[in-house]
Amino acid sequence: MNDLPASLETVRARFAEAAAAASNEETLEELRVAYLGRSGEVTAIRRGIGRLPPPQRPGAGKAINDAVAAMEDVLAQNRDRLAARSAQEALAQRIDVTFPATRPALGSLHPVRRIIDDACAYFERHGFAIVLGPELEPDYYNFDALNIPAEHPAREGFDSFWIRDDLLLRPHTSPMQIRTMQRHHPPVAIVAPGKCYRRDAVDARHLFQFHQIEGLLVAEGVHFGHLKGMLDGLCRALFGESQRVRFRPSFFPFTEPSAEVDTTCPKCRGEAPACSMCGGSGWIELGGAGMVHPNVLREVGYDPNAVSGWAFGFGAERLALTRYEVDDIRRFVDGDVDFLEQLGALA
Ligand code: DAH
Repeated sequence: MNDLPASLETVRARFAEAAAAASNEETLEELRVAYLGRSGEVTAIRRGIGRLPPPQRPGAGKAINDAVAAMEDVLAQNRDRLAARSAQEALAQRIDVTFPATRPALGSLHPVRRIIDDACAYFERHGFAIVLGPELEPDYYNFDALNIPAEHPAREGFDSFWIRDDLLLRPHTSPMQIRTMQRHHPPVAIVAPGKCYRRDAVDARHLFQFHQIEGLLVAEGVHFGHLKGMLDGLCRALFGESQRVRFRPSFFPFTEPSAEVDTTCPKCRGEAPACSMCGGSGWIELGGAGMVHPNVLREVGYDPNAVSGWAFGFGAERLALTRYEVDDIRRFVDGDVDFLEQLGALA
């Protein structure tokens, strides 16, 4: 064992090199066990001491102890190195709680839903109840009870989706007038918003599924002035105080007299002869209205000599087009998130 110092030196150098290359604590520990552990390399060398002539033993023991001490230093240094590195990594991966967060993508109410809500809120402020009804209706509620008997030409105006001979997807919300009056004695004051269906080809002004808002007030002494006042107030509530309404004589079987109701074109306010929204007329048509026909009152058991009423039916998409100055009704249903977000940001 004369070359003990030399072999200790190679073992120590090998150990130092391996320790410097270690990339984690576990590897360092494996090295410690392999060199300094109970059956480690250095321990095996130490066991050889017993075979040396006695005079050489103390020198060999000291050399081994020095080597072990040096190797333990190397271990400690490398542990420090690894600890410093993982501290640095942890710092780099630390979550910065002050960093501005990514906002979750929030949806918004659809513009048609918002205008329905706003219109309903206006009527609720005036004491009206909101009622909802079926979208699939017998022809009785859609037509007969509304003074449109089987062969009446007005039925042709409602090109409907028939499910059976006597059952169709409602082409208007007016059936809710009948359902309400059948269930309640006068006075009644309701608005009925909801989906309607017509077999219309889809274009900039038509959808086969759309929404209407129906209104009905029946009580003693109700007259056309009340209707005008309420619809004038509705348009001002929805579109602004300077908004005007116009009533044009018209015909509906379930009202007498009947009117088409228009409101000021918000885009040109009547001042642009080539306006793309109103075609230069200065007015946008919202729907129909009138005084409830005596035949309709009689049908539900009301006495037309005791009570009178007004009704109206407006297209909700029409109201939304007007409010948001949108020129194509299809934009409301084509699912363009940018478009909806833009409108969602408006009041
Ligand atoms: N229901 C009619 C339609 O869809 C609109 C309407 C006109 C409703 C006059 C009414 C009304 O309540 O009084 O064409």
